[in-house]
This record gives sequence, C-alpha cells and structure tokens, in this order.
Amino acid sequence: MPQTKAPIAVALDAPDVETAARWANAVTPYVSVVKVGLELFCRTGPSIVETVRGGTGVGLFLDLKLHDIPNTVAGAARSVARLKPKYLTVHAGGGAAMVRAAVEAAPDVCIAAVTVLTSLNDEALGAIGLAGPPQDAVRRLAVLAVGAGAGALVCSPQEVSLVRSEVGPDVVLITPGVRPAGADAQDQARVATPEQALRDGADLLVIGRPITGAADPGAAAARIAAALS
Ligand code: C5P
Repeated sequence: MPQTKAPIAVALDAPDVETAARWANAVTPYVSVVKVGLELFCRTGPSIVETVRGGTGVGLFLDLKLHDIPNTVAGAARSVARLKPKYLTVHAGGGAAMVRAAVEAAPDVCIAAVTVLTSLNDEALGAIGLAGPPQDAVRRLAVLAVGAGAGALVCSPQEVSLVRSEVGPDVVLITPGVRPAGADAQDQARVATPEQALRDGADLLVIGRPITGAADPGAAAARIAAALS
C-alpha cells in the first residue's frame, strides 16, 4: 500500500449503492478522495456518505453543484456540512453572495466553485449570455469565486494553467476530464493525462470510468496512482 495516497478523486457514478460501496472499497487504499455526485446522492440520500467511507479516512467530495439564492444555498450547505465532506461544489455563476453564503454556512468544508461547465460550447455559452471566449468567463468566475472565499475551483485540464495564474498558489484546482494515455476519452471533449494535468497546476484529479469501468477498479486505481508517485 502506498505511503501517500494519490491526489485523485474517484467519481463513484454508480447505478446503485452496492456498486458504489464496492468501488469505494477497492480504490480507497490508493486515492485520497472519493466523489459522490448528484445522481447517487439524489437516489440514496445522505446515508451514501457513510456507506462509501466505510470507516476509512478517505476524503469525501460531495459534488452537488449548488446554485440558488444565497439563503437557500446556505441552508443546503449547512445541511450537508454535518456529513463532513472535504469538498462541496457550488456554481460560481450563482454570484459572489451565493458563494460566500456557502463558505460561511460550512466553515469546515472546502467550497469548490464550478466556473463554466465543460459541456457548454461557444454557442451554448452565447445562448446563456456568456458570449466571447470561454476562457474569459472562466477567468472572471474563478476570480469572483475566490474573492468570495471559495477554497477550490473545478476547471478543465485545458484551463488549469490559466486559472492558476489568475488565482495564485493557495487555491485547490480540481480537474475532471482526465484520461491515462491511450484510454478512451468517452464523452469528455477536452482531456489530459494525469501527469499533464498535475504539471499544469492541478491539485486533485477527478477520474471516473477509467477506474470504475475497469475489470478490476482497485488495480486500475493502483496503476494510475503508481504512475503519479
Ligand atoms: O468518468 P469520468 O472520468 O468522465 O468522470 C468525470 C466525473 O467528473 C463525472 O462525475 C462528471 O460528472 C464530473 N465532471 C465532469 N466535468 C465537469 C464537472 C464534473 O466530468 N466539468
């Protein structure tokens, strides 16, 4: 077992609780964080958190992407803070007051702000009033979120060096869209290898299907972790 766990958050995008628990159990010896997203949380409720932690000290990334008026986001953040996640996501597009409300409601949780969803292309961004290069919106929202107290940002591997230069060294940069060399990109449009993403300034790599879709998720996590050590 490695001394230091790899800076990887395994996305437990599982169809049921049993599968999520099995994946979590297989990967926690090798990775620092497991990520529970909206689908699993909405299906199972908060009990999923203890199920995937399984008594281990693995960090929990609660990827709920909260986006509402500040008072409501504060209430939601307070509600899930009792689950002691390490990270909780909110949309930076909810505005500075909303991000700050989450930060203040959950002071022991690292609030991670999503800048621009990587699923939005230039046309889709224009349609929601964010015309112009996506990098401009990413940069603007990153600065807004950090100014409002967010301790982490979620951004694509392509944006990580730009965001790092905007926000400095102290903000945790989390990147999905990570694929080991030779792996299938699946529906991720802009991917980078784990090594490249870390070199560009990422602190935590979100990796799902290259690990959970493998015949042996534990072995896949161990392999990727070893390549990073
Ligand atoms: O399986 P894969 O490695 O593509 O999983 C990536 C995870 O990161 C998924 O849980 C997905 O919802 C999440 N994510 C993403 N792109 C974003 C934000 C989150 O892929 N911009």
